[in-house]
Amino acid sequence: MTPDPTQAALRAQELREQLNELAHHYYVLDSPKVSDAEYDALYRELEALELEHPELVTPDSPTQKVGGRILPYIDSVTHDVPMLSLENALTEEEFTAFDTRLRNALGAGGGLFDEFSYFCEPKLDGLAVSLKYLDGSLVQAATRGDGFTGEDVTHTVRTIKPLPLKLRRPFTGIVRGEVFFTKADFIKLNRTREAGGEPTYANPRNTAAGSIRLLDSGIAASRPLSIYLYALVDAPGHGVTTQQDVIAFLRGLGLPVNPRGRLCATAGEVLAFHRELGAQRELYADESEDALPYEIDGLVVKLNDIARWEELGYTAKSPRFMIAFKWQEEQATTRINDVVFQISRQGIYSPVAELEPVALGGVMVRRATLHNQDEITRLGVMIGDEVYIKRGGEVIPKIIGRSPRERDGSERPVVAPDICQYCETAIVLDERAHNPACPNPRCRGRLVGRLAYFASRSVMDIEGMSEKTAERLVAEGLVNNIDDLYRLTPGDLTGLEGFAEVSIDNLLAAIAKSRRQPLWRVITALEIPQVGAQNSKLLAREFGSLAALSEAGAERLQEIHGIGPKMAEAIVSWFADPENQAMLTRLEEAGLTMTAETDSAEAGVFDGKTVVLTGTISFARRDELKDWLEQNGATVSGSVSKKTALVIAGPGAGSKLAQAEKHGVAVWDEARLVAFMQETATRPAQKPDWWPV
Ligand code: IVH
Repeated sequence: MTPDPTQAALRAQELREQLNELAHHYYVLDSPKVSDAEYDALYRELEALELEHPELVTPDSPTQKVGGRILPYIDSVTHDVPMLSLENALTEEEFTAFDTRLRNALGAGGGLFDEFSYFCEPKLDGLAVSLKYLDGSLVQAATRGDGFTGEDVTHTVRTIKPLPLKLRRPFTGIVRGEVFFTKADFIKLNRTREAGGEPTYANPRNTAAGSIRLLDSGIAASRPLSIYLYALVDAPGHGVTTQQDVIAFLRGLGLPVNPRGRLCATAGEVLAFHRELGAQRELYADESEDALPYEIDGLVVKLNDIARWEELGYTAKSPRFMIAFKWQEEQATTRINDVVFQISRQGIYSPVAELEPVALGGVMVRRATLHNQDEITRLGVMIGDEVYIKRGGEVIPKIIGRSPRERDGSERPVVAPDICQYCETAIVLDERAHNPACPNPRCRGRLVGRLAYFASRSVMDIEGMSEKTAERLVAEGLVNNIDDLYRLTPGDLTGLEGFAEVSIDNLLAAIAKSRRQPLWRVITALEIPQVGAQNSKLLAREFGSLAALSEAGAERLQEIHGIGPKMAEAIVSWFADPENQAMLTRLEEAGLTMTAETDSAEAGVFDGKTVVLTGTISFARRDELKDWLEQNGATVSGSVSKKTALVIAGPGAGSKLAQAEKHGVAVWDEARLVAFMQETATRPAQKPDWWPV
């Protein structure tokens, strides 16, 4: 039924306000009020209303975040107030010198009443933007550019999900902040691209900058960008007198701000905070809750008292009342001996630099990724060049640039292969990242990567099947198709280099055991474009067997919430390929699970419940426990809200515990969980190997 126009207008207004409020809770307060499904339902209702009554679309409607505008070019914008840069302090001594300079300049030489404090914020490594709001509506967004003139990026900035298009108050003024990717979102983005056969990105900073400067806002909208605001231009004019209050003011407007900012009363406290963040920066997200969710390259230390900023003034380029207190990057200098091209399971060749071995962060580094042709061009490196490398929070070291040492003429340019090293098919150049790619879907070169993917933890979880093992098996001709794995015998492996008797037994046992992996893992293993673990779980739940999934049409697939037309199309055409059908038959013959388990009487003890895991769980890996909870009907979420049914908190649990208390959510410790698990699952089939005893 079509509501009458006034009713429609009222409902649209109501939906807009409701959706904006929910987005505020989700993105800014980090405390969702409703489930994603409930949000989606309201969103679709608004979308439908607007489709029927286009005159009801307002510029700040949440539906306007999907972008769609494609600009012919990007305008430049002159900043009313220039966007300066920051002076660096690279050591504790340099920071102390900055502190002393301020104390002297402000006459705070030690007098008790002259004390001043600093407000310190993590220095996010992203793209600085300046946002102009008029009566609470975003009217212009600009990049920093050269500090005086930037680029008009209003169309892309509008699509950043956590950024409200309408503020909570009719604010008129300019705010500034940083656009960035969280590490998790960046990894997810690359996974999606990989699954869709698109080249992956080298680093979050450049990708954030590239996404914002796109002409097509629709593409920008599909990138999971984040933003934190940290500056208010003319704070005194808005009645704000300290940096701490700037942050509170911005938060009050409904803008996302970094919750990790901290007021430090003394230089000593700043040093302690700097050390603390420096340590957190080295942690990995899957190991500790204290790990930082984004990349930072320093601490921005700001004199808290804004009234005194003008007293200190500016150098030609930067303010004297703030400093970027960075960390000494662990770096090394070495030489590129050669560049080899490695083929991925998608057939894309990526350049890997073979380095003169050098010690860095306690390990010997022999290789570094060059990622893609664009990265080689950006770095301007040749084989034989002396380069700087760093490890910065990632396992694989990166080349960050050429050393200034002059070339002696013996250097050679990196030349990409023009025929595939494995199947001799002519190489095609991938258009976007200019990576060479082998277009042959049956290329043997891809098999190593596919085998390693098949065996990986999040797919079939075959312990002991490393990339090296996969390489061996393919090189020896023992595996020509994935399913050959299931036909390996001890005799095939005996005598091969790197295969001791114990490891042969263990490997074969692990392969055999993987036959019992659940249906969703088998679906993930098929490498259907765009179908990762999450979607495989959906499909397994929905269809219950590979046979049923294989027969599903695009229309039926799209009925599933979370599966769009593109993915439906990809699934249908995957199953339509006779070669893929042949592989399915072979996998079935190998004894893999082809139907979902339906007979586990206890499945569903967590049906419909949202569970949050936090802290360290000692008896299982987090992903294993998550799988088990999901198999038993739970939705495992990363954040605590009123809707959370249960928080499982191991030692070291942090803010989520406090959130649970706030919302009155039940909290179990490990012992309670173990007791519960032992009560509920009684049959051996329900107990994974890591089952607590
Ligand atoms: S205040 C005068 N606060 O660092 C510039 N900057 O090197 C005042 N940045 O262009 C900037 N996090 O892109 C400030 N909490 C933060 C920051 C931050 C990251 C970046 C920003 C700026 C650059 C200066």
